[in-house]
Amino acid sequence: MTKITLDESEIPRRWYNVVPDLPSPPPPPLHPGTLAPVGPEDLAPLFPMELIRQEVTGESYVAIPDDVIDVYRLWRPTPLYRAHRLEKALNTPARIYYKYEGVSPAGSHKPNTAVPQAYYNAAEGTKRLTTETGAGQWGSALAFACAQYGLGCEVWMVRASYDQKPHRRTLMETWGAVVHASPSRATNAGAKVLAGYPDSPGSLGIAISEAVEAAAGGADTRYALGSVLNHVLMHQTVIGEEALKQFAAADERPPDLIVGCTGGGSNFAGLFLPFLREKLADRANPVIRAVEPAACPSFTRGRYAYDFGDTAGLTPLLKMHTLGHDFIPDPVHAGGLRYHGMSPLLSHMYELGLFEAVAKQQRECFGAAVTFARAEGILPAPEPSHAIAAVIEEAKRCAESGEQKVLLTALCGHGHFDMSAYERYLSGEMEDFELPQDRIDTAVAGLPQVG
Ligand SMILES: Cc1ncc(COP(=O)(O)O)c(C=O)c1O
Repeated sequence: MTKITLDESEIPRRWYNVVPDLPSPPPPPLHPGTLAPVGPEDLAPLFPMELIRQEVTGESYVAIPDDVIDVYRLWRPTPLYRAHRLEKALNTPARIYYKYEGVSPAGSHKPNTAVPQAYYNAAEGTKRLTTETGAGQWGSALAFACAQYGLGCEVWMVRASYDQKPHRRTLMETWGAVVHASPSRATNAGAKVLAGYPDSPGSLGIAISEAVEAAAGGADTRYALGSVLNHVLMHQTVIGEEALKQFAAADERPPDLIVGCTGGGSNFAGLFLPFLREKLADRANPVIRAVEPAACPSFTRGRYAYDFGDTAGLTPLLKMHTLGHDFIPDPVHAGGLRYHGMSPLLSHMYELGLFEAVAKQQRECFGAAVTFARAEGILPAPEPSHAIAAVIEEAKRCAESGEQKVLLTALCGHGHFDMSAYERYLSGEMEDFELPQDRIDTAVAGLPQVG
């Protein structure tokens, strides 16, 4: 079988929360002034109560509202593919599977959380959501979700992506969103960056500051984050829950290796957390591997410390692997992976040794994406090309050793809006970026003092 599909009736009815299954919970977010753990009242100006509850819940599962499932029906369940043609091209005995999230309206996994976030906001009376977007994928997803529930949507899009991907902006506008290039003059945080650095390519950290500032200024406006937070990772577990059912339907044994790309960690977590539950219950034993860009290596070269989630220091302090909130990554084409920090939940799990991480340069990743596209047909987004590069590397190892490993990855988005990146790769103009240690040292020197 090439495409393992499920019936609409098999859309998961609940999201999985890994926290109760861990030996210890992740350290809490802290208020930057008092350094005390933040309470619901600190978060209430930004998020609806139900999402704040989900952020700290000790329950193993949260029921998915019927109204959210109704919207999920537009594209879920997503297909699991067996990559027969890629296996053949690599002449590998490995069996490669990919869970394809590019079939969603926005073209990535991001609507899995955008839809419930918009739903809970609309249910609690929010009229307008603000957000940031790197690659434009998250902004598109939220614009789509807001259109479903009649909410206004305002998006700060990182300048580097705004210039590289004008059609992502048009997609967001088609769904009714207002889009700013970030840094912008519409907020104090953006204007301050532009004053010191008029040509700033922007970063997710700056764009988050702008969106948070804009949300804090309006009574019926709230903010939505596309990754990093516990409730976002939990919403994405529909990916792994479906994949588990699809492995059973294909009569395949559990994967030996699960690979995902990591920006803030949500697609990776969404794929592997349900498999980790099986591993912790001794029903599977996969190696689990995160892949990040060498230009923004928070897991592999960042420090595990409390830091702000944004550049201006408007968010609570999060304990995470961070390159420092002042760090501006080089403008690699995987815009969704250009974030200085990492999910606090995943950071904690990385410290517990529950998975490993590697970093890759973008030319290797685009080379892998082209190999993949020529074999499988689907054009990957630049972000999952990192995971594909790691899968191809493992499949080639299997070709040498003769091991028949089962490999699983999330193809978390298509690259139809990333043609200028492919053009640069194909014409030989794409460059890798070596990240000198002193840039990391300078940025982590600005970490807030905690304890
Ligand atoms: C297609 C795609 N993949 C991955 C990511 C990275 O985010 P995360 O690590 O939360 O999945 C993004 C973020 O914008 C994205 O657009």
